[in-house]
Amino acid sequence: MHVDVVTIFPDYLTPLELSLVGRARRAGLLDLAVHDLRSWTQDVHRTVDDTPYGGGAGMVMRPEPWGAALDELTAPGRPPARLVVPTPVGERFDQAMAQRLAVEPRLIFACGRYEGIDQRVIEHATSRMPVTEVSLGDFVLFGGEVAVLVILEAVTRLIPGVLGNAGSLDEESYADGLLEAPVYTKPPQWRGHEVPEVLRSGDHGRIARWRRDQGLRRTVTRRPDLIAKLAPEKFDKKDIAVLQAAGFQVSAADMAE
Ligand code: ADE
Repeated sequence: MHVDVVTIFPDYLTPLELSLVGRARRAGLLDLAVHDLRSWTQDVHRTVDDTPYGGGAGMVMRPEPWGAALDELTAPGRPPARLVVPTPVGERFDQAMAQRLAVEPRLIFACGRYEGIDQRVIEHATSRMPVTEVSLGDFVLFGGEVAVLVILEAVTRLIPGVLGNAGSLDEESYADGLLEAPVYTKPPQWRGHEVPEVLRSGDHGRIARWRRDQGLRRTVTRRPDLIAKLAPEKFDKKDIAVLQAAGFQVSAADMAE
């Protein structure tokens, strides 16, 4: 996958040299370039912002440097790209969006700062390429850079070949719409706390059922919205018993065999 990030703080993206994202880059699975938006400014002060039309606090990013940056990055001969703009008013980021982004051949991230980017940049880009405005959640960051770190980490680990054990992708939280069960390693006893006996039993059927139950219990108490999103046929009889024991209302229709 090819990724371009445009920002006024290129140094913010240096963690992308580390850990597994850095390894994916060195392995050639992720080709990442970080660009300084100010290199597309024309004035001596390298201005990227101005006061908002209509008044109000803060500054807005001017369209010209963004237009020049996107023109250059999408010039004829460059691979087609999806533009991703992190913003608190975007579509909510989740694992499903990470999966959709992970199969794109090329992404261009536009990191806004201040009160955001002049909306005409997004409008104009939309007439030339697919555009996703994306929010990490219901909170406001100083800018898009940290959001890009988060999104790229979630996306990179889904690129085939990045994770040694692709099986771990099937079992992890959100893969089946539920939170994952708790995990344990050695030693079997630690400070008076024991690893659950079932995990040491070697009985794969019991272990799978225990993990499912734990995942259901966690999800129903911490994220009941996720349970409500799942189709009723995703639950077997045991699931429904676990949900009911945890106080979740299961409708009569869901109880049908
Ligand atoms: N930029 C500022 N706040 C943001 C948020 N919540 N998500 C993504 N990008 C942002």
